[in-house]
Amino acid sequence: MYHMNTTPSVFPVLLSALKECSPEAKCRLTDEISAAFSDGLLSNAPADAPEDFRFAGRPARPELVPPDAVRARKMNTPEGYAAMLHAICHIEFNAVNLALDAAYRFRSLPAAFTADWIRVAKEEACHFRLMRARLQAHGFDYGDFEAHNHLWDMAYKTAFDPLLRMALVPRVLEARGLDVTPAIRAKVAQKGDAETCAALDIIYRDEVGHVKIGNRWYQHLCAGRGLEPAALFRALVSRYDLFVFRGYVNIEARRQAGFSRFELAMLEDFERGLKSR
Ligand SMILES: [Fe+2]
Repeated sequence: MYHMNTTPSVFPVLLSALKECSPEAKCRLTDEISAAFSDGLLSNAPADAPEDFRFAGRPARPELVPPDAVRARKMNTPEGYAAMLHAICHIEFNAVNLALDAAYRFRSLPAAFTADWIRVAKEEACHFRLMRARLQAHGFDYGDFEAHNHLWDMAYKTAFDPLLRMALVPRVLEARGLDVTPAIRAKVAQKGDAETCAALDIIYRDEVGHVKIGNRWYQHLCAGRGLEPAALFRALVSRYDLFVFRGYVNIEARRQAGFSRFELAMLEDFERGLKSR
């Protein structure tokens, strides 16, 4: 199979996309990788071992601050509204890096895993562009407000094991996006900003799919290691000091994303126990 051996590996180009600092260039590279990978022009044959690095490429701005130092702004001022758009924009930018990193780093899984996360990266790049355009329409740009790096930090902490990554990033942090989006959309609609509503609808629809992909591979990895998914998840959430639920919980979206009602009820009960302790 001469031609299979000469198909270049996707991993070096995933690494260049990850390390790219310019958001435009990162998104363009992501689109190119996605097209080439689905056309079979790149293979997921393991090349060298994945590189370990603390930070993925990002522009000099936004300035990164600790999560509790991000200034809370009222959404009823133009600046506060733009800060809300900026926060979503920043999440989407990080989500591109997170998806690229999952595709790049974890190589012991079937090609469908690499394909899934490359597709997620492409959708996140689309979300970033959508939100950046909305931010620009309101007279601001990506980098104009401070931001925190919590999402990427979780990627770094889970870089040594795909099971941990799948358990804690899509199923905890990205699933939380499903909880907060409906309230944000309602405020945006109240302002009469129909174009931002349309962008949020696309993001929400795709995000359910991303959490579902996380759930599918989490189940797959647990099955392969003979681990019980629900019990393990409870142990991890507790050990990493995370909350699955905070405020409003979008049970229906989580159910669509592959959480069972049993699992959700059990987690809710478990967290109530933790908080009352
Ligand atoms: Fe997204």
